[in-house]
Amino acid sequence: MKPSLAPAADSGFSHPTQMTNQPILITGGAGYIGSHTVRHLVSQGTKVVVLDNLAYGHPEAIVDDGVELVIGDTGDRDLVRSLFEKHRFGAVIHFAAFAYVGESVTDPLKYYWNNTAEPIALLQVMQEFGCKAFVFSSTCATYGTPAKIPIDESNPQNPINPYGHSKLMVERILKDCDHAWGLRSACLRYFNASGCSADGLIGEDHDPETHLIPRVLMAITGEIDVLEVYGTDYPTPDGTCIRDYIHVEDLAEAHALALDHLLSGKESLRCNLGTGQGISVKEIISAAEKVTGKTVPVRYGPRREGDPPELVADPTLARDTLGWVAKHRDVLQIVGSAWAWMDGTRKGRYPE
Ligand SMILES: NC(=O)c1ccc[n+]([C@@H]2O[C@H](COP(=O)([O-])OP(=O)(O)OC[C@H]3O[C@@H](n4cnc5c(N)ncnc54)[C@H](O)[C@@H]3O)[C@@H](O)[C@H]2O)c1
Repeated sequence: MKPSLAPAADSGFSHPTQMTNQPILITGGAGYIGSHTVRHLVSQGTKVVVLDNLAYGHPEAIVDDGVELVIGDTGDRDLVRSLFEKHRFGAVIHFAAFAYVGESVTDPLKYYWNNTAEPIALLQVMQEFGCKAFVFSSTCATYGTPAKIPIDESNPQNPINPYGHSKLMVERILKDCDHAWGLRSACLRYFNASGCSADGLIGEDHDPETHLIPRVLMAITGEIDVLEVYGTDYPTPDGTCIRDYIHVEDLAEAHALALDHLLSGKESLRCNLGTGQGISVKEIISAAEKVTGKTVPVRYGPRREGDPPELVADPTLARDTLGWVAKHRDVLQIVGSAWAWMDGTRKGRYPE
């Protein structure tokens, strides 16, 4: 059965914000999803401090005055300790990670170190300081090839690459820390993040870029010669892979709600963040052509190993526990949002 996408009528959620006056530490806050969440929290009056080593982040993505950007590693215990001493954080939102699936296969230790070992150092400092609320960027990659679609949280978690394993291990560690010392965590399993801020000021800016929507748009701007499409013979209506594209501002809102959930004393949570609707590669290409009025140069090739035909979330649990429902649903709106950034601020930042 397809999940109902409307908010529960009697949910009674008041969406309180900032249950603590203590600042929040945001690791990876200069990255794509982190920077949008920083803006969202700041707009609600939350005080945040960003820790990012700028391996992939951009200082320009921190646009609000008064947000402190500390350049350093999540796993640098002394640095993190000094930040806790100074700010006495009420919670941590942990975005910092490497997220290139292919690279995780060829260089797994890089991923297990950065994505699994470094958070342990961070958690040790949190334990030292009695900080017991942790929002974690997990991923639909922890499900591997799902047993059923849409994917709900009861689906077995069997990652098919080291990236997915590196995230699943943190989920396990968080569960054990909850049991041992009362750390409450929200593991948010995102599907495919997309789009940019409503004002187009910040957006997706990965280098290298591997995500479909920006690559389609890069093929239009000429930043790449051609868009490779891997596989046209999947068991889907048009033969191309189907994914669940969740808008980055919807993700930001979900983080604020998850933070409130934990800070109001509720129990640990693991939930999907997706729209519940699938969009195929060909549908994205056609939306990009409509939005830009230009043709996408495409080369159709064979399937790529490890790409499941369809990954679509059942987001019911996030609705029922957080009162969260994705607001951006229309494919033209989602691709149009990504284009607003690509053709606006990003273009100005990287002149030809
Ligand atoms: N983008 C997606 O579609 C998606 C989907 C599922 C999960 N995720 C997860 O969400 C998180 C954010 O993703 P994103 O797309 O914004 O990635 P991103 O690369 O834009 O942001 C990650 C940020 O973390 C920083 N970082 C990495 N390792 C660090 C370390 N050890 N110490 C300090 N900073 C470090 C990087 O410099 C970067 O700014 C990641 O954990 C990713 O695995 C992303």
